Amino acid sequence: MKEKLAQIREQAISALKGASDLRTLEDAKVKFLGKKGELTAVLRGMGALTPEERPVIGQLANEVRNAVEELYANTKTALSENAKAAKLQSEKIDVTMPGARRNIAKRHPLSQVLREVSDIFLGMGFEIAEGPDIELDYYNFEALNIPKNHPARDTQDTFYITDNILLRTQTSPVQVRVMEKKKPPIKIIAPGMVFRSDAVDATHSPVFHQIEGLVVDKGVTMGDLKGTLETFVKKLYGEDVRVRFRPHHFPFTEPSAEVDISCFVCGGKGCSVCKGEGWIEILGAGMVHPKVLSGCGIDPDEYSGFAFGVGLERIVMRKFGIDDLRLFYENDIRFLKQF
Ligand code: PHE
Repeated sequence: MKEKLAQIREQAISALKGASDLRTLEDAKVKFLGKKGELTAVLRGMGALTPEERPVIGQLANEVRNAVEELYANTKTALSENAKAAKLQSEKIDVTMPGARRNIAKRHPLSQVLREVSDIFLGMGFEIAEGPDIELDYYNFEALNIPKNHPARDTQDTFYITDNILLRTQTSPVQVRVMEKKKPPIKIIAPGMVFRSDAVDATHSPVFHQIEGLVVDKGVTMGDLKGTLETFVKKLYGEDVRVRFRPHHFPFTEPSAEVDISCFVCGGKGCSVCKGEGWIEILGAGMVHPKVLSGCGIDPDEYSGFAFGVGLERIVMRKFGIDDLRLFYENDIRFLKQF
């Protein structure tokens, strides 16, 4: 019996010591200390011993069990710590590694330049106004001195919703809406979408954007209009750009003008972008027609004003050298990424 216990002790110790992971350790424990384990079997067999032998063997068996249990507990702690250390090692984060690059969104070139234009005018004391895309015939035409059957209506192929309701063909109706509500001094720009039933090509789109400008006060002159627009153009394109006013006609301004800038590609010599002219048209403008003022309840004998309408796509194309309007609306990431 003593020999048997000594043998169990030897075997148990070597099995526990040899365990390289928690599972093998647990198996070894069960093998010796478990209900069906070898040491347990010995203890069960104690009944067959003589009363003299019993306490001696009992004590010995307890010693063996304590020794094995202690070794088991120590080994378990050691193995658990090793396992934890290995896990920490394998899950270690290298904080010096470069992070995953995020794709940062970019502002659309139209929005970028609109912001720039807005900033320029805000800097000159303008406020920003808005009007609806779906507009009444009255605001888009009638109040702008374009009565029914006026030839100017033909030049703007209008999307009508009903006889009276249409998609605005210009941002000029915002002039009227502002003047109806606010008395001078008025100094606003009104950016927005406009719609014309045009076929799509490199320079035409049924949807595009304009930036309307309106200044009404006592003693506003054509000189103010020229100074304002020249300042705007030079801030947008640089001091070198030259500005030219050409007589034109709009029913809601008198006198009216179209404004050209010297070609940004050839500087005025003539090239394919300006079609050999050296100049590029970017906006329409003029002194607000007295009929438009009085229609909004503003006395044209007391007040005068100027207005202008800039084509946003145009000025963005000029700014970045973009030769096809359609690129703005296709949202091709390869195009958008460049700005
Ligand atoms: N609304 C005109 C257009 O679309 C531009 C314009 C605005 C002209 C303001 C004069 C004054 O062509």
